[in-house]
Amino acid sequence: MPFQSNSSDAKSIKIVVVGAGSVGVTTAYALLLDRLAADIVLIDVDKNRAQGEAMDLSHAAHFAQARVRVGDYEDCAHAAAVVITAGVNQKPGQTRLDLVKTNYALFKEVVPRVAHHAPDTILVVATNPVDVLTHAALQLSGFPVERVIGSGTAMDTTRFRHELGRHFGVNPRNVHAVILGEHGDSQLPAWSLASISGMRLRDYCEAAGVEYDEAALEGCARRTKEAAYEIIRRKGKTNYGVASVLVSILQPIVTDSDAIMTVSRVGAYGGVEDVALSMPCKLNRSGAYQDVPLRLSESEQQALRQSALSIKEVLDSLED
Ligand code: 2OP
Repeated sequence: MPFQSNSSDAKSIKIVVVGAGSVGVTTAYALLLDRLAADIVLIDVDKNRAQGEAMDLSHAAHFAQARVRVGDYEDCAHAAAVVITAGVNQKPGQTRLDLVKTNYALFKEVVPRVAHHAPDTILVVATNPVDVLTHAALQLSGFPVERVIGSGTAMDTTRFRHELGRHFGVNPRNVHAVILGEHGDSQLPAWSLASISGMRLRDYCEAAGVEYDEAALEGCARRTKEAAYEIIRRKGKTNYGVASVLVSILQPIVTDSDAIMTVSRVGAYGGVEDVALSMPCKLNRSGAYQDVPLRLSESEQQALRQSALSIKEVLDSLED
């Protein structure tokens, strides 16, 4: 039975999180606080540790009227979504792409088992390198493209809005700007589409009587791209940001609400076929079911193509 989406009935919603490391458990905690699911299942090879996390989370779940438990792959049955966070994460100085071989091998184990028990679910991939592994998850699951979603640049878009909001002294919610392409070093800011209060940034600056400071704006994009490196250098991992982003991806799936988000999906981008990267997509209970058309500048189109090519290169190396 496919999951029954009904925004007023969180009782029927089960979400499975594969990987009870810091991203997985922070996601479970954020799900609880958001009251998005009644049944949250943690799957991890280290059952004992997962059990400890589930016990601790259950005490928070008491307030959210949900349950958190440790499960196995058969518990994926009828889940509204299965979030995959399992895998090794970046060490200081490593890029996301450095993780590919280990995490790809893990996906070969995990994804077919999830797909076997939950053939109708939606896979939400968070493990890095997320674009490469979103592509792998599509192949390994045999799911339709809309039901395999990578968290992609939803994270970078959030960071970018945060940076621009600080620069302009505007709440990030009121900044419309997206990061496209790889969740990694080849990502690109879509400057030509960025707006505040319905105005492109240059027009906004003119109307507001503030300088359009190109160097400062480039700094916002640079800090966005380098944020994970900076955080990992200081605390060894990232978890709160990505967990919040995962919940914001799960929300339109569970509530069937057609939100537009920059998430990673397999498609053809910049003339490069069969690659996963992030572009704005509409999300609802069917998954990331529709691209949102964008009119990028010539240089942005070029940068998108470069990003697609660099991901494709890694994909091709996996097939060797
Ligand atoms: C992040 O951007 C490391 O991909 C992870 O927070």
